[in-house]
Amino acid sequence: MKRMLSVIASITLLVIPFAAQAQFAKVEDAVKYRQSALSIMGTHVGRIGAVVKGEKPYDKAAVEADVAVVAMMAKLPWSAFPAGSDTANSKAKPDIWKEQDKFKAASEKLQADVGKLSVAANSGDLGAIKTAFGAVGQSCKACHDNFRSK
Ligand code: HEC
Repeated sequence: MKRMLSVIASITLLVIPFAAQAQFAKVEDAVKYRQSALSIMGTHVGRIGAVVKGEKPYDKAAVEADVAVVAMMAKLPWSAFPAGSDTANSKAKPDIWKEQDKFKAASEKLQADVGKLSVAANSGDLGAIKTAFGAVGQSCKACHDNFRSK
């Protein structure tokens, strides 16, 4: 029994790294998935942006809820960039696959910055939220400048 369990465990370990790539049956599905996550992320970033710019009154719970959605969405798109998925209806640049490390680093930078925004949102300090939000915006822009076509 013990031996069988360890065999199952090692098979599982072998299979998991491939799962991310194999999750999408069609390239179009991956494109749709990542664009959806990015779109939802963008909507909630926009809502926080309105508060940061003073267009909407600051409501701690609302900002926390928006940041929670952003944090979840910021994890999702990156496993949905299979090689060659710069299809006609995608703005992904081929550089994503030429400079994979740089692209990965940009996605990790975003998630780290969103983590800091989350801490700021929980603190209820609008000044800290503004600072952290600025860094998140820089992360979005840096990656778009390099890896998203106009
Ligand atoms: C690591 C790179 C990267 C980061 C970081 C990044 N994006 Fe993007 N984003 C892309 C790429 C690439 C596309 C184009 C995807 C496609 O069309 O296949 C895109 C597309 C989008 C879209 C369009 C989605 C649609 O409807 O097609 C929105 C909105 C968006 N990003 C918002 C943001 C916001 C807001 C941030 C920061 C909070 C951000 N992105 C951070 C790479 C990034």
